[in-house]
Amino acid sequence: MITVLMPALLLGASFPAATQRAPATGGQTGQAASNPGWWNNAVIYEIYPRSFQDSNGDGIGDLNGITSRLDYLQKLGVDAIWLTPIYPSPQVDFGYDISDYDSIDPRYGTLDDFSRLVAEAKKRNIGIIMDLVLNHTSDQHPWFLESRSSRTNPKRDWYVWRDGKRVNGKLEPPNNWESVFGHSAWQWDAKTGQYYYHRFYIQQPDLNWNNPQVRNAMYDVARLWIRRGVAGFRLDAITSLFEDPSDTDEAYVLGPDGKPVINAYGDKEVMTNKTDNLPEVHDVLRELRRATDTASGRRVVLIGETYLDSIGDLRKMYGVNNDELQLPMDMQVGFINKFDVGLFRRRINQAETGLNGDEPLFVFDNHDNPRWDRYQTDAQGTADFGDGPHHDEIGRVIATVLFASRDTAMMYYGDEIGMVTTPPTRKEDVRDPIGITGWPKEKGRDGERTPMQWNAGPDAGFSSAGVKIWLPIPASYKRINVAAEEREPDSMLHWYEQIIALKKHDPALHDGEEIMLNTSDDHVLSWLRKSSHGEAVVVACNFTAEPRTMSFNLRAEGIQEERVKTLLKSPGAPEPRSLDRIELEPYGVYIGQIR
Ligand code: GLC
Ligand code: CA
Repeated sequence: MITVLMPALLLGASFPAATQRAPATGGQTGQAASNPGWWNNAVIYEIYPRSFQDSNGDGIGDLNGITSRLDYLQKLGVDAIWLTPIYPSPQVDFGYDISDYDSIDPRYGTLDDFSRLVAEAKKRNIGIIMDLVLNHTSDQHPWFLESRSSRTNPKRDWYVWRDGKRVNGKLEPPNNWESVFGHSAWQWDAKTGQYYYHRFYIQQPDLNWNNPQVRNAMYDVARLWIRRGVAGFRLDAITSLFEDPSDTDEAYVLGPDGKPVINAYGDKEVMTNKTDNLPEVHDVLRELRRATDTASGRRVVLIGETYLDSIGDLRKMYGVNNDELQLPMDMQVGFINKFDVGLFRRRINQAETGLNGDEPLFVFDNHDNPRWDRYQTDAQGTADFGDGPHHDEIGRVIATVLFASRDTAMMYYGDEIGMVTTPPTRKEDVRDPIGITGWPKEKGRDGERTPMQWNAGPDAGFSSAGVKIWLPIPASYKRINVAAEEREPDSMLHWYEQIIALKKHDPALHDGEEIMLNTSDDHVLSWLRKSSHGEAVVVACNFTAEPRTMSFNLRAEGIQEERVKTLLKSPGAPEPRSLDRIELEPYGVYIGQIR
């Protein structure tokens, strides 16, 4: 299984026991969070532009392709689209290596195409969120070309340069820090006789965030795109802006046998205490927030790529005075990666009670991690990919946790039709460089970046027939595609449309308090949503392959009524008449209004 950017910590972390309901005071139930804005309880849809819709027949998705699909996204109920980077780039990391922050890569279109996308999206009440890569640039960016040209160049200090160290007469990197993408994080530069630091690929040198000129240059970039009409930014790798100035070695990660863990790239894995989540990040977030808050009359959102394994660290990302990120991503719920009712209950409850009433941003998948089909389980309960038995049922459970919780919901293109992770089967087909260095243990991220499946035509409606598409279309497109699912009443697409509509329009599901129910049940995850005006909705998700029957007594929650009206339920389950007896199919879901 690909676990590229998902720290192992998140998988088995043990958290302090939490109470199972919001305290009477504290969590601001049914009220606006302390950071109110259009993004509260919104649905954000991530698009990997290369793979969404090709409009000019070159086999690569583009901006005009996205514009042509806005009606589809509006119908789905999307409030904003996050585009992974579309700036000019050598495309070593498919756009995350930026060589010009002010413009658009011609592969994706022009600035005019971008303006048209923003304007057309706005007509449909959809905001455009840009990806802002602050940690590093491309090694082809003019700043880096200058920086590496000589030790005295004015831009030398814009990047992280260090002398090597002599060990037994041999020159070695300053320390043992590693790149997330394998091997030393230090690259030797023969011309100037120093090493530069790169947390990601060699072609992605890290900027020096201690340098005020770097900071101001990046705040200018943010202001420029706000003037161009964007609704906000997703801040890439935001926790890795600073490195510990001591430059000392990291400890090795030890396995259960006490020996160093060897990763997919053949390296002894090191810790990231000196390169990740340093406190100075918060100073930058406050400065950036001030810059984006004052750039226009509009409220723009800052979303963070924050793989943090404790609710306390996540809370800090909002800022002590709510002056940092409005939406740091909560990876603690969506990346549990096994169907464990207790763990889901605990982590959702922590998000409800541990963020001072601020709203969590839940997310289950993205362009760096396998799609939600990784939750597909076999009889032994081990994770597996694919379009297997219970694929659709598991998808409904995941969509229910995502959209029926009190959160902003972030989804990834293709989730709504149940697209399956399709990793390459031969090394020669791999496009993501880490899949080449890490093969076969690490197959890279191509599997979750395959083209959107629009219909059952030869190119799945992604491109013009007969064109060579940058990544192959998975064979599953014949069954899993938008056109087929629009015709099928019980399709995944219709489940997404319905549950998103409930999130938007049902007062309890929109922003009501979230209270965990039947908290000793290991098979079914249930919760209550209660609006400040007394509307109440009960949600139950069967996390097992056996049918289950539920009974709820809500008197402790001040609810006397026992009749329920179904808002949405898995196909096939009988209509319940009261809270006494709700029958769930294997991996079945029930959502009902209490009256
Ligand atoms: C983030 C992106 C990932 C990229 C990395 C380096 O984690 O999501 O795709 O490779 O940063 O920019
Ligand atoms: Ca194209």
